[in-house]
Amino acid sequence: MPTRNLCNKRIIVGISGGIAAYKAAELVRRLIEHRAEVRVVMTRAAQEFITPLTLQALSGNPVHTELLDTGAEAAMGHIELARWADAMLVAPATADCLARIAQGKGDDLLATLALALDAPLAAAPAMNQAMWRNAATQANVALLARRGVHLFGPAEGPQACGDVGPGRMLEARQLAERLSSLFDSGVLAGLRVCITAGPTREAIDPVRYISNHSSGKMGYALAEAAVEAGASTTLISGPVVLELPHRGKVEHVNSAMDMLHASLAAAAECDIFIATAAVADYRPRQVAGQKIKKSSTTMVLELERNPDILSAVAALEHGPYCVGFAAETDRVVEYARDKLQRKKLDLIFANDVSDPSIGFNSDENLVTLVSESETLPLDKAPKRRLARTLITEIGRRYPPRA
Ligand code: PMT
Repeated sequence: MPTRNLCNKRIIVGISGGIAAYKAAELVRRLIEHRAEVRVVMTRAAQEFITPLTLQALSGNPVHTELLDTGAEAAMGHIELARWADAMLVAPATADCLARIAQGKGDDLLATLALALDAPLAAAPAMNQAMWRNAATQANVALLARRGVHLFGPAEGPQACGDVGPGRMLEARQLAERLSSLFDSGVLAGLRVCITAGPTREAIDPVRYISNHSSGKMGYALAEAAVEAGASTTLISGPVVLELPHRGKVEHVNSAMDMLHASLAAAAECDIFIATAAVADYRPRQVAGQKIKKSSTTMVLELERNPDILSAVAALEHGPYCVGFAAETDRVVEYARDKLQRKKLDLIFANDVSDPSIGFNSDENLVTLVSESETLPLDKAPKRRLARTLITEIGRRYPPRA
């Protein structure tokens, strides 16, 4: 079912002022049903056709109407909103709205968001058939299409003004499906992908453990992106508090040894292995059977090295294409390339974990793709969006050279 792709997606619905604005209410309702997070932006003219209150009730979020509203800017500024979105759909997109977006105008919130957006932009034209056929509208639409704006419709048929012809906005169901298909890259179609995510916990006694700050966000985002790219996915997850992906298999593990066993079993049947997990490098040599008493002021733990899961998978005969992550605090690319070679990987993504705004437990990440022959810095982005870029980069490079 294509609309599964919308689950957890952050969608801006932009509503401009046309009679089809009433259909935007049904669109928002459908997107919410598909478990998308929706923020609605309305032009002034749109509010003549349908009230912000209706859209607020349906989306469960305040409706954004003004570019220069200090209150709204304090809650979520327009640039923040543009960054927040996984996609924006302008529905209905009137002739005037399409013209303003084509011209790159920033004279209201909707047009400004279309300018600032760093995610797919789609528009569902809706207007009188003569306005649609007009050379100016056709030129604007052609320009937008060349710039990568996705045009959904219009459909042909009877219009509110009594005319018959092209210019009807697509139905909410069709728009939701078209929007969903934007997230279907197909770059890993038919491939089997295994991803490790999150931290591991190394028991000291029944109540204590050694672990780290990995939240699993990067790995979970990659699992979702891999599914969207057409892969069948196995996520091997350490203990995290994230909502489970809605598609694909998930195996829960605790310790590095658990993760090793699950990974070796899954790797034997996968084409691509992606290790985002922050595996604890050491585990206590002895795990106490009972809770250790606080009898002295110091406590000495003897630790032993955990096996390197990714190296073990990369060493398999006929093993999968192996992708690692390198968590570094300095000389990031140099150390990542060293790991690429030592662990015999096909690709590694280096992230600087000394920067708290990226890496461990943050919503954003900034990585550099490192292979034997390449060093490719990628843009900082929310992990969910970055994951789609990384999956595309992996898809472009797979299969490995023989
Ligand atoms: O989970 P988040 O909060 O979203 O944070 C994401 C992240 C920062 C954890 C992620 O982007 C990341 O960098 N993951 C790798 C963390 C790490 O352990 O890096 P490393 O440089 O120590 O290890 C290199 C590679 O070997 C990694 O792919 C790691 O999964 C793998 N490894 C390491 C040790 C080990 N015993 N087994 C392994 O498989």
